[in-house]
Amino acid sequence: MPISERLSRLGSGVFARNDERKSAYRQRLAAGPELLDLSLGSTDLQPPAAAIAAMAAALERPESAAYCMHGATQPFRQAVADWAAKRFATAVDPDTEVLLLVGSQEGTAHLPLAVLNPGDQALLLDPYYPSHMGGLHLASAEPVLLPLDPTRQWRPDFGALSPAQWDRIQLMVMGFPHNPTATTGEQGWLDEAVQKALEHGIVLAHDNPYVDLALDGEAPALLRNPAWRQCGIEFFSFSKSWCLGGYRLAFAIGASWLITALRQLKGVVDFNQSLALQAGAIAALQQAPHWPEQLKQVYRLRRDRMAAALQTAGWPVRLPSMALYLWLELPPKARAKGFNSESFCAALLDATGVCLTPGNGFGPGGEGWVRLALVHPVEQLELGAARIGLWLAQL
Ligand SMILES: Cc1ncc(COP(=O)(O)O)c(C=O)c1O
Repeated sequence: MPISERLSRLGSGVFARNDERKSAYRQRLAAGPELLDLSLGSTDLQPPAAAIAAMAAALERPESAAYCMHGATQPFRQAVADWAAKRFATAVDPDTEVLLLVGSQEGTAHLPLAVLNPGDQALLLDPYYPSHMGGLHLASAEPVLLPLDPTRQWRPDFGALSPAQWDRIQLMVMGFPHNPTATTGEQGWLDEAVQKALEHGIVLAHDNPYVDLALDGEAPALLRNPAWRQCGIEFFSFSKSWCLGGYRLAFAIGASWLITALRQLKGVVDFNQSLALQAGAIAALQQAPHWPEQLKQVYRLRRDRMAAALQTAGWPVRLPSMALYLWLELPPKARAKGFNSESFCAALLDATGVCLTPGNGFGPGGEGWVRLALVHPVEQLELGAARIGLWLAQL
């Protein structure tokens, strides 16, 4: 049966490859230690009870079962506009500048289809979040990679592209705090990107699901730069700040022409999330705006303890400035043995049951690195580090 060229460009994806490895491991679990899955940013921490209660109550109402047209999302959009006004001191028009999404991944993956023509160029930071590249492939756009360099603390070097190269770019995708490098970043970096976008007529998409999860420094936000209304769109999510990842709730705030374009595209694809899910999202924004604060304390403890445990296990760790992930260079011993990020993760899982994400799944700039998600209690993380240490010692 035929499949499209764009689908074959997508490849299998790092999370799908990891899933296969985990399934294979589970099938022969009797022979090894229990699986410790640290490969996904899917948290074990709980959402606010008020959000779940609001969803449960709304489930009883018949309108929750109906298709939800854009007009019906108004209360959600108003709640988002109120949240943004408090959070970033910027007025947002709920009718023209806010859009409900089925997860920020959905929004960032669909945006290129709404703003690019086939063959158009789009700039991604490398390493990048996989759906950013996936969205470009779906739109038959041409990716241009801007490598992030650890010796620059992952700060993008916008001067690496000539003015002529900038002129050819139609869309630039950024995201700080940054997955996978676990770097908070700085507002100045984003402001530089805004400047480039304005100078060269580029759409700037800022993927910001970790806006509430900076452990050191303050998370940048496009909404803090008044030019967002001219050239930008920012993506926020309920998955990380309110632990609602499975409910697939997120939103975009942006220039009205970009919101209109993405809404038109999504009109072909979906009918918005149920009113019941939106009720939970509204409750999270209004009744639990400070929920992420307590999450940060948990993640800080996990980060510090796991980093110390891995150091003890013989794996040097750079302390990340945001919550949820450690971004680890392959241990020197593993590099000396010729492992790359994919073969290292496969061998580690086989030997220890600890599953990490190979950095090459985040682009060529991720090769030589692996990502560890701090999504289990600290005791389990430390046991995982001990298993890793034993294996590394035998390498
Ligand atoms: C940078 C980035 N964007 C988007 C997502 C997906 O978020 P959502 O659950 O809102 O689709 C993630 C999830 O890990 C992410 O790291």
